[in-house]
Formats: sequence, structure tokens, C-alpha cells
Amino acid sequence: MTTKRVARVLPPTPDGIERAGGVLRSGGLCAFPTETVYGLGASALDERAVRRVFEVKERPLSDPLIVHVAKPEDAPALVDLDEPCRKAFDALTEAFWPGPLTLVCPARSHLPDCLSAGTSTVGVRCPSHELARRLIDAAGVPVAAPSANKFGHVSPTTAAHVLDDLGGEDISILDGGASGSAQCEHGIESTVVGLRTEGTTCHLTLYRRGALPRASLEEICSQVGARLNTAETYASESKPDASGSPGQLLTHYAPRLPAALCTVVADAAADDAKSDSYLANCVVVDFGGRLKTLEKAARAYRDLSAAGDAKVAANALFDTLRWAEGVPGAANVFIADLSEERASSALIAGVADRVYRAASGNAIEIPRKT
Ligand code: TXA
Ligand code: MG
Repeated sequence: MTTKRVARVLPPTPDGIERAGGVLRSGGLCAFPTETVYGLGASALDERAVRRVFEVKERPLSDPLIVHVAKPEDAPALVDLDEPCRKAFDALTEAFWPGPLTLVCPARSHLPDCLSAGTSTVGVRCPSHELARRLIDAAGVPVAAPSANKFGHVSPTTAAHVLDDLGGEDISILDGGASGSAQCEHGIESTVVGLRTEGTTCHLTLYRRGALPRASLEEICSQVGARLNTAETYASESKPDASGSPGQLLTHYAPRLPAALCTVVADAAADDAKSDSYLANCVVVDFGGRLKTLEKAARAYRDLSAAGDAKVAANALFDTLRWAEGVPGAANVFIADLSEERASSALIAGVADRVYRAASGNAIEIPRKT
């Protein structure tokens, strides 16, 4: 069944931006590009509009939203920080904003409760994407925006991806176009960090690895004497996590086909013919050529970065997962297993986190002849 297209696509022209800003200001929803992924925006000050974001995404009300501001100076009006965390906040925003860092802080009381999902905190971020900033500026309000996909599905990095998931909804989409600076340059979401004061120290907690590597955060933390802990969890829906960031589900960014993390293991006794017939229904998403020996037998094969470049892989990841689920005749998606990179301080950890969740942590070993 194909759903009737209702969503309106707006061009990235001054008129399109003005119209998109008007949609947000008047309580409507508008998807827009950022340097990470497309967000589904609503005025953060309008409780009804924020509730519609949850409905349209089919997202549980227990998962809070990030609020986007056009310039760093607009953030303090949303958060309520005491001295130690104010210092860390200023240092982090000075170093990384505009950019892919979300800071979760105690929320000011005028913000709607549903933004915070009962946490009394709010995540804020100033995106660097020119169009996103011009749109928020045109809207004249802070903009709440989760990724513009159906809950649990692969995040969108083009307007076409947004249409695939949300085209049947009464929303607008500001189309960033497909080239150069219009693109979602990073391709994976922002890094999410919580700030909490204990005594005279600001404690930072890394909730979600993302486009800003942990190593960059650590540098600033040591300069301001803040401590950085990690609280990533991989919770199942039936067992919510206790990390302080409710969105940490095991299954996330998932293609609409069963997916598994795949490793090729050397086995002198392997029956390659058997494994080839099995692979005939599988799409292989590789990284750095580690699954290259499966290419011939697989239904389809793509490498996120044959050279093993994390930046290139992050940029290609979500588009490739959406491509994989659409390959005719495909029954499974096998993705290169990057589990060993999940605790890394480098960008690859953000990619490793996404592929782990895309596969719900399922892993498979394919034996091949040595
Ligand atoms: O790059 C991004 O961050 C994109 C673009 C559109 O800005 N947005 C995005 O939003 O990824 P979303 O809703 O798909 O993911 C936000 C994550 C969720 O895991 C959520 O639980 C966490 O951030 N988060 C948001 N506000 C929070 C809060 N107040 N406390 C704890 N975690 C929060
Ligand atoms: Mg999301």
C-alpha cells in the first residue's frame, strides 16, 4: 500500500525559508537539514506542536527532545545552570558551537514539560548548518527537533529520506538539496552530554556518542576541571535504562529487514558453496573491506569506506542502510562488526554505536576457507 503524499516540500530559497519559519511560528511542523541529520522541527515553546512531533514520529513521550537555537547566545534563556556547570557550559559551547554537540542541562520552568519527558532537563544545541540557523532565525522561536524519521528507523540525511518516512503526514520539509554545504555533512547525530553539579564540580556524562568525538570533549573538560563519565546503555524496550538518557534503546537506526553484525572467520573446513547460497539473499554493508570476501556471493554489497575512513563512513551510513533495506529480494542485512571500536575516543565510536543498534546487537560469523 502506498500512502498519499501530504507533506509539502519547500525550496532552500529566501522565500522557502521564510515560509518554513512561518510554519514553525504558527504551531506547524517543518523538517529541516542540519549538519548531522534532518530534524523534525516544532516551536519548543508550543506544547501542542511539540506533542504533534511525538505523534507524527510515533515516539514514546518518555524520550525527550533536543531544542535548537540559531546562535549560542540564545541558549542560556532555556537552561538553569549554577556556577560550576555554567563554566563548563561556556567552555564547551565556545569550543564546539555552532556544531554537533547537545548539552543536557536543568530546564527553565517556562519550557513545556513534554520536551523534557519528565526529566526536568533540556538538551540544547546550536547547529552549524547555514540553512538550519536561517530557519530558526526566521521562526523567531527555539526549535525542538528529533531526527525526522519514524521512531526506531534509520535517521534521514536527505529530504527524500524524510518523505519516505513522513511523506503521508501534514508537515513541511525544507529541502537542503543534495550537494556541497547543503548536505548533512557529518551524517550521524550530535554527541549528547549531560551536565550536573555535585558540590563544586561539574560532572559531565556522555549519553550518546556522535559526530563530535569523545577525545575533543576530554580536552575541554580537563581545561575547566570537569569530569567526564560515560553512561551509554543498550536497553531493551521492556527494560528501560537507568542512565539518565531515556532514548538509549538497543534497537535504533534499524533498517526494515533483519540485520546482524557480521564477521568473516577463517575455517579450513568451511563449505563456501553452502555459505554462498545463504548469502544470495543478504545485503552486505562493509567497512574497510573486512567483508570483501562476501561481495561476490551477496545479493548486493557496499563499503561505507573501503579505505576505512570514519568520517566518510559516518557520512554514508544512514543512506546506505536505507539503500540496503530497499534492495529487491533482500532478506537480511549484514553489517561489518565494529564492536571493538565502540569504546574508542575517536569518531568511529559513533559509527560503531549506530551499527550495533541497527543490528540490535545481533552478531553472526561467516566461516570462509583459509
Ligand atoms: O544531531 C542531532 O542531535 C539531531 C539533529 C536533528 O539535531 N537530533 C536528534 O534528536 O538526534 P533525537 O531526538 O533523534 O535524539 C536525541 C537523543 C535521544 O537519545 C534523547 O533521549 C536524548 O538525545 N535526549 C534529548 N533530550 C534529553 C534530556 N533532556 N535528557 C536526556 N537525554 C536527552
Ligand atoms: Mg533519532
